[in-house]
Amino acid sequence: MKLNEPDIVIKRMEATADFPMELLLLADPSEEMIQSYIYRSRIYAALKEKETIGICVVSMEEENVWEIRNLAVASHFQGQGLGQQLLQHVIAEAKLNKVAKLMIGTANASVGQLYLYQKVGFEITAIRKNFFLDHYDMPIVENGIPCKHMIMLEMVLG
Ligand code: ACO
Repeated sequence: MKLNEPDIVIKRMEATADFPMELLLLADPSEEMIQSYIYRSRIYAALKEKETIGICVVSMEEENVWEIRNLAVASHFQGQGLGQQLLQHVIAEAKLNKVAKLMIGTANASVGQLYLYQKVGFEITAIRKNFFLDHYDMPIVENGIPCKHMIMLEMVLG
């Protein structure tokens, strides 16, 4: 089932707004890690009426390079096309802002996410070995596979 698009608006959130931490924690289980990038990022929120049902956090890594640090859709709205819609929105924003390269990283075990990112046009370019072992206190397991490495993907825009 696809979400009824006219009901959903994707908007840039103010840096001072209250961030929906519950949603952000779905994509990144460390609040400390989220705090390290959220204040220097652009935040795009998908709103259905007044409820934030999706979020995409994009940091500016260097001139003309953006990295999607956090992409999350509320669990009861997952699998209905919103994640893909948020990604397309951010890709369009990056193009408008003359960004040369858009990056995104996900865990070696995040098979569905790796599928989605490649489906919208990202290509795997690097592996940050032991990223999750080095940066997170708790073990993270997805699809029965331990998350150890960060798989980096890129999209060249200009
Ligand atoms: N497992 C299997 N397939 C998936 C998954 C998954 N976890 N996520 C997306 N897909 C596939 C869908 O089946 C769909 O395939 P199709 O177009 O061939 O039918 C396609 O990808 C698009 O799916 P959407 O419905 O747009 O995805 P959704 O709205 O569920 O958003 C997201 C995807 C953001 C990964 C969401 O499931 C979520 O919030 N998951 C928990 C948090 C998370 O893992 N976030 C990403 C971490 S990496 C990072 O933040 C940079």
